[in-house]
Amino acid sequence: MKVWRFFGSATALLDAKMCCSPMAKLGFRFIVTSCRAVVLPRFGGPDVLEIHPNFEVPDLKPHQVLVRARAVSVNPLDTRMRSGYGRSIFEPLLPLILGRDISGEVAAVGGSVRSLSVGQEVFGALHPTAVRGTYADYAILSEDELTPKPLSITHVEASAIPFAALTAWRALKSTARIAKGQRLLVLGGGGAVGLTAIQLSVAVGCHVSTTCGSQSIDRVLEAGAEQAVDYTAEDPELAIKGEFDAVLDTIGAPETERLGINLLKRGGHYMTLQGEAASLTDRYGLAVGLPAATAILLKKQIQYRYSHGIEYWWTYMRADSEGLAEIRRLSEAGKLKVPVGKTFPITQVREAHKAKDKRLITGKVVLEVD
Ligand SMILES: NC(=O)c1ccc[n+]([C@@H]2O[C@H](COP(=O)([O-])OP(=O)(O)OC[C@H]3O[C@@H](n4cnc5c(N)ncnc54)[C@H](OP(=O)(O)O)[C@@H]3O)[C@@H](O)[C@H]2O)c1
Repeated sequence: MKVWRFFGSATALLDAKMCCSPMAKLGFRFIVTSCRAVVLPRFGGPDVLEIHPNFEVPDLKPHQVLVRARAVSVNPLDTRMRSGYGRSIFEPLLPLILGRDISGEVAAVGGSVRSLSVGQEVFGALHPTAVRGTYADYAILSEDELTPKPLSITHVEASAIPFAALTAWRALKSTARIAKGQRLLVLGGGGAVGLTAIQLSVAVGCHVSTTCGSQSIDRVLEAGAEQAVDYTAEDPELAIKGEFDAVLDTIGAPETERLGINLLKRGGHYMTLQGEAASLTDRYGLAVGLPAATAILLKKQIQYRYSHGIEYWWTYMRADSEGLAEIRRLSEAGKLKVPVGKTFPITQVREAHKAKDKRLITGKVVLEVD
């Protein structure tokens, strides 16, 4: 059950905790103090997830937005966090709420929010270390983590896009600074990040090659890849020719790292999504793990700069309002899509995580929040 506090006359449907909204000016205040949420009380398998009927909703900070969730997608980070990935950061903060992506409606805005208003349909994603995630009736995101949802896509479709697309955006635009005419290689193009990386690069005017499993060939070609190599049937080392300006490695295995680095031209960028910072801090604690991760990254950067003349990066998702605006524009134009494999009601979150863990579903898994 949600707990609501009413101030003033209570005919208003939506709220505002800030002085400048029209509702507040009229004297209406409608504040969500708790809501239903999927809570992670301890690390483990899907069965540790609990639906809590009254999980606290904290007060909004001035730059924050309260979003009534309609759909939240399941990212690999959610299932990894549930299993204990990032425990060096998250363990002291348990219980926490999983979930990065969201599509829904603005229920309230903080005092300094200018670009969004109550009732507007929005979608967006939280940064990787957020403790209060989106698997809840109401989620809190910063204004720059949200953008208006295009009318042409559903909440389910919208919720599948932002975390993956912002991860790809950061690597391609902020790190490699891809430009028209360049060649990009996506290793593991069949997943959400891979597919969004292909589509974002094609939109810039790049030529994209990719590796993926046989079931993903059609969708990577549809996304705009010019060459798709089925790594279960062909040897990518023999099949992929020429040199690339940038390589995005979504798999991050030793063999994909070797392949990607060998296919780069001098000055090119190799970017892996599987940086070791979290795994090392989990293993050795923050005090030892973080400096160890920094040292390993630095060693690899220096090593590859001298041996191959390339730039080596661990790349991470980061909120980026400019990126989100472009993601919105491309989604609206039908040029950026992430296929949804299956939806579950949020009450079946354990089943959704089981399906994701067992890789039973091709395409994104989305939780619908009624
Ligand atoms: N650093 C960051 O900030 C960041 C952000 C987002 C994601 N990630 C990581 O990037 C990876 C991809 O994320 P995503 O959202 O694109 O995931 P996803 O949508 O679940 O896709 C993963 C893809 O990996 C391929 N795959 C399947 N089984 C595999 C296996 N055993 N080993 C390797 N690959 C396999 C599949 O493609 P095919 O069927 O074509 O083989 C699958 O579609 C995940 O590991 C995720 O944790 C990192």
